Amino acid sequence: MSGAGSEKVAIVPGDGIGPEVVESALAVLDAAGASFEKVFLEIGLSRWKRTGVAMSEEDLQTLKECDCILFGAISTPSDPNYKSVLLRIRRELDLYANIRPFRSRDLDFIIVRENTEGLYSGLEELGAEESRTLRVVTRRGSERIAEKACDLAAGRRRLTVIHKSNVLKSDRLFLESCRAVASKRAVPCEDMLVDAAAYNLVINPKRFDVMVTTNLFGDILSDEAAGVIGSLGLCASANVGTRHALFEPIHGSAPDIAGKGIANPVGAIRSAAMMIQWLGEAEKAQRIEAAVQWALARGARTPDLGGSCRTAEVTEAVVENLRSSHTANLA
Ligand code: NAD
Ligand code: IPM
Ligand code: MN
Repeated sequence: MSGAGSEKVAIVPGDGIGPEVVESALAVLDAAGASFEKVFLEIGLSRWKRTGVAMSEEDLQTLKECDCILFGAISTPSDPNYKSVLLRIRRELDLYANIRPFRSRDLDFIIVRENTEGLYSGLEELGAEESRTLRVVTRRGSERIAEKACDLAAGRRRLTVIHKSNVLKSDRLFLESCRAVASKRAVPCEDMLVDAAAYNLVINPKRFDVMVTTNLFGDILSDEAAGVIGSLGLCASANVGTRHALFEPIHGSAPDIAGKGIANPVGAIRSAAMMIQWLGEAEKAQRIEAAVQWALARGARTPDLGGSCRTAEVTEAVVENLRSSHTANLA
């Protein structure tokens, strides 16, 4: 990745608060001096309601052709006629690793979530009296997510494999594969049953460092982790494969607060920082994180954090800090 401004980034604002937080993330990227070509795409439930199509084949092609994707959030109704486009994008672009860092004043851990198999296999039957969803775990899928988790564990304390192998045979394969990779990579590794992990995350979150787990457990544990560090609105993620990458806050479209101008933009801003880091601009990514911490420490907080700021005010605080640090660097 050159980082010289020649990249093409697909921008998918999505539904609900998605467009509100993506606008903030783009303002912050601009203030950090990150330049790239933007390709805006309307994908999601509002597009589906308007046209009957949530994402066209052409959109999918465009997503594949761009260097990466900045994503807001989309609404996914529990309607059997509506297929989640986010899951389709993750699958079609083979974004097998969902990396979710959680950071606060005294916590710093990462959930590495397998993103293409498990209970998200899409192999389902809906019946009037009985319905089934097939949980698929493969050795290849488990080994590649374990390799990614070991990459992230470099220079850190340890890997914790989270599973339910006392009940699920599929998780015996997951656990065995992760242990084998950790041993080959000489990464200190422990494992924990998912119910105990959910409990420990609340009572002793500091004991965790890099956690690796299957798709649905990772989804649930990451919202729990967001609660532990203070708000869903603070948390970012990278969905990466070998060729493509999509960056998005971990929260959804939050219809309860959409349009009110009070969504916390920090998760989207941190996702944008993860994106430019991935594009090779590590220094700009670090400046964005420092500006976020500066703004939060000075009370630029939306209501989810107990503050009274609006989305635009938090964004402005981050932007101001970046502009002044940039001027200071030039002086
Ligand atoms: P949600 O994450 O949208 O919201 C859960 C709660 O957290 C709500 O009370 C919301 O107001 C609050 N919240 C979320 N983000 C916030 C932010 N940035 N600032 C302040 N508060 C915030 O989950 P939900 O309500 O269960 O789902 C809403 C819709 O979003 C559903 O259709 C769901 O399928 C979809 N969803 C999409 C994604 C995605 O696109 N990546 C992720 C999760 C949920
Ligand atoms: C997430 C979301 C998605 C998931 C939904 C919207 C399909 O909850 O990214 O955490 O379950 O992966
Ligand atoms: Mn989720």
